[in-house]
Amino acid sequence: MIQIAHLQLQNNIILAPMAGISDLPYRMIMKSFGPALVYTEMVSANGLIRAGKRTRQLLRSAPEERPLGIQLFGDDPAVLAEATAMVQGDGELVDLNLGCPVTKVVRSGAGSAMLRDPLKVGRAVAAMRRASALPLTVKIRSGWDSQSVNFLEVGRIAEAEGADALILHPRTRAQGFGGKADWGQIRELKKALNLPVIGSGDVFTAQDAQAMLEQTGCDGVMIGRGGYGNPWLIRDCLALQQGESLPAPGAAQRLEVALRHLQWFQEIFGPRKTVRDMRKHLCWYSRGLAGAAGFRTRINHAETLEEMNAATREFFSAAADEQQGAA
Ligand SMILES: Cc1cc2nc3c(=O)[nH]c(=O)nc-3n(C[C@H](O)[C@H](O)[C@H](O)COP(=O)(O)O)c2cc1C
Repeated sequence: MIQIAHLQLQNNIILAPMAGISDLPYRMIMKSFGPALVYTEMVSANGLIRAGKRTRQLLRSAPEERPLGIQLFGDDPAVLAEATAMVQGDGELVDLNLGCPVTKVVRSGAGSAMLRDPLKVGRAVAAMRRASALPLTVKIRSGWDSQSVNFLEVGRIAEAEGADALILHPRTRAQGFGGKADWGQIRELKKALNLPVIGSGDVFTAQDAQAMLEQTGCDGVMIGRGGYGNPWLIRDCLALQQGESLPAPGAAQRLEVALRHLQWFQEIFGPRKTVRDMRKHLCWYSRGLAGAAGFRTRINHAETLEEMNAATREFFSAAADEQQGAA
């Protein structure tokens, strides 16, 4: 269990904020497997205060996913503070994104670009702290590049200015997602701060989560890419903490979750976006099953929800029959 300011979390497994992925239906699916906290995709502070309708849409939530962390990005402390005040009623926690490596975001001075200006980080955290009583987390990378690794400095500044927890993805901006996340840096940050530290990076199995907790002393583990098509990872992480190991999901279980995901996505976003955005999720659910390559082709060519539904039912049902036959 972790305590972030007054927010008591039920366990130490947390769903990562992921642009283009951690939308409401995804969070609801993942939440049903037990993480203590889920985060929104990153939300533009500038977009929010301009009352952008599309930006506000990212704040749509449902009671069953709470507590919800709302992640903001921006480059202007005053704008970040105003956005923080605006989202007070939309979640239980606010996070500042200081890690996004995407060129468009970095050019605007936000995301990982802020790591190059620790004083500005301090002003942003202080301003957000003053703007709201919600718990405040700050998510960082190791630094801008290998010449400017400054996660300890940024972490200390964030702590001094009122952050309630730090999240570290221990790669520099220049690294993108290459190489391995340097968990040693999570350990260093945990040692340097009095705040809870959450580790993020390369947790693909329950054993990885356990190893990160043990090797770094971090308080919580974030699940990002490892959760693609595999919400069972969260259940497995929690089970392993109780000394249990659960069987991998069969095709029938995958079908049930994939259909639920498809259904919720469609109810929330409508058919057009569903056909476009659910392709990747359905392909991820099929990973490792016989005939997955053919299924991917079919899904990527599906143009209607009906086609998508039919392809999903057919593929996973056939895989389930095959598994039953083999058993
Ligand atoms: C597609 C994608 C989108 C992401 N979007 C965000 C984001 O909006 N905000 C953020 O702080 N991190 C974002 N991240 C980084 C993740 O939160 C996480 O720190 C990183 O992927 C490392 O963890 P993993 O190895 O478990 O994926 C994103 C990562 C991916 C792959």
